[in-house]
Amino acid sequence: MQQHLTIVKHPLVQHKLTLMREKDASTAVFRQLLREISQLLAYEVTHELPMTTRQIDTPMQKMDAPVLAGRKLALISILRAGNGLLDGMLELIPSARVGFVGLYRDEVTLQPVQYYFKVPDNLDKRMVIVVDPMLATGNSSAAAVDLLKQAGATDIRFLCLLATPEGVARMKESHPDVPIVTASLDKGLDEKGYILPGLGDAGDRMFGTK
Ligand code: URA
Repeated sequence: MQQHLTIVKHPLVQHKLTLMREKDASTAVFRQLLREISQLLAYEVTHELPMTTRQIDTPMQKMDAPVLAGRKLALISILRAGNGLLDGMLELIPSARVGFVGLYRDEVTLQPVQYYFKVPDNLDKRMVIVVDPMLATGNSSAAAVDLLKQAGATDIRFLCLLATPEGVARMKESHPDVPIVTASLDKGLDEKGYILPGLGDAGDRMFGTK
């Protein structure tokens, strides 16, 4: 079992993250870096995927070669910013099934409100990776994991770009069984629930909205 919090300290991840944080990074640059970093994070979060062997013929001889076992894994994007992590991850894991959880954050209460939920079948038989670039208060992340557990998921990981101590604590309290993989544990939150030092609004930055 993975530890509850894994911070991916690989130099490529850290360098790309720094470039993404810079306020003058263009939408195109931000998007490209997000695609690249999502693949590096996907590599880390999938390192416990179950394996089996299959007999194959190499040009030289037969061998029992390692292959992934079980059902295709499920990537669940928390809309809308989670979608920014999906493209890169799907390049690495092209047969993954994909689901979406739509939650918006009430600006006043900071509590999550659900507006969309569509996930692959047989969630109970798949590794489920929830993707959202920002683990801020942890309220929407914990709510999304609640919904996925209600839908049958038991083997869940949470993948984000930035996390806060508050968000990690919130997830640990509600879902101690869900390992978190992130590129950085940032300082904390401002009064509006934005991550500090952070990178601003991840959705706005990846989609070029404001
Ligand atoms: N969501 C974002 O996009 N940015 C933050 O800093 C916090 C939540």
